Amino acid sequence: MRRKLAAGNWKMNGLMADLAQVDALMAAHPDPQVDLLLCPPATLIQSAASRAQPHPMMIGGQDCHSSQSGAHTGDISAGQLADAGARAVILGHSERRVDHAEDSETVRAKARAAHEAGLMTVICVGESLAQREALNTLDIIDGQLSSSVPDTATGENLVIAYEPIWAIGTGHVPGPDQIGEVHDFIRARLERRFGAGVGRSARLLYGGSVKPDNAAQIFQVSNVDGALVGGASLTAADFGPIIAAL
Ligand code: G3H
Repeated sequence: MRRKLAAGNWKMNGLMADLAQVDALMAAHPDPQVDLLLCPPATLIQSAASRAQPHPMMIGGQDCHSSQSGAHTGDISAGQLADAGARAVILGHSERRVDHAEDSETVRAKARAAHEAGLMTVICVGESLAQREALNTLDIIDGQLSSSVPDTATGENLVIAYEPIWAIGTGHVPGPDQIGEVHDFIRARLERRFGAGVGRSARLLYGGSVKPDNAAQIFQVSNVDGALVGGASLTAADFGPIIAAL
């Protein structure tokens, strides 16, 4: 049985004072029955991770480099994330694929480095509106999955987040049938590539405009093991009810 996972992505939001939201979240969920992951900006990882002790909430990064160290100004390695207290990292988010021209091969190299550093990876896939309207959604997902997920994936270190680009920050959420179709497809593809062990243990998250008032409906969809939440993860008042709906 897969444990549910509620993951928050603060993106480029948050200052030290905002870590009060982490305290509030832990206070509201002292003994969570689901796994919790919060990915603040890199500047807050170490502080958030030490504040989270001994609460089971995991702290994660939003990206890492594929190399362990070296001349890569401004980048952070997976080992450095782990050293700062991170236990996971989001990779291949559409904002990185677009803003930083990251292709799936780059994402795969980063994911391999993250696995080697002992991090759980939340690898994002998702289609644009034009791709959906052209009926190419499953082909796009298939290509991103096979190119972005490295062979180092295990049932424990692999999480896939399905994030339709047109649903991110827009308030537009796919219907349950649309989410279910993609999640069932991802599950089948993982089982075909990795076998039943990894394929059935890896967790699949939905991301894109998840809010307190739509979370429960999304979580009923088949093969949805949780959510990757952006805007609504910024405050305990919004993220708390989403966690409770899992
Ligand atoms: O990583 C999170 C996703 O991009 C979803 O963001 O919940 O603000 O739509 P959102």
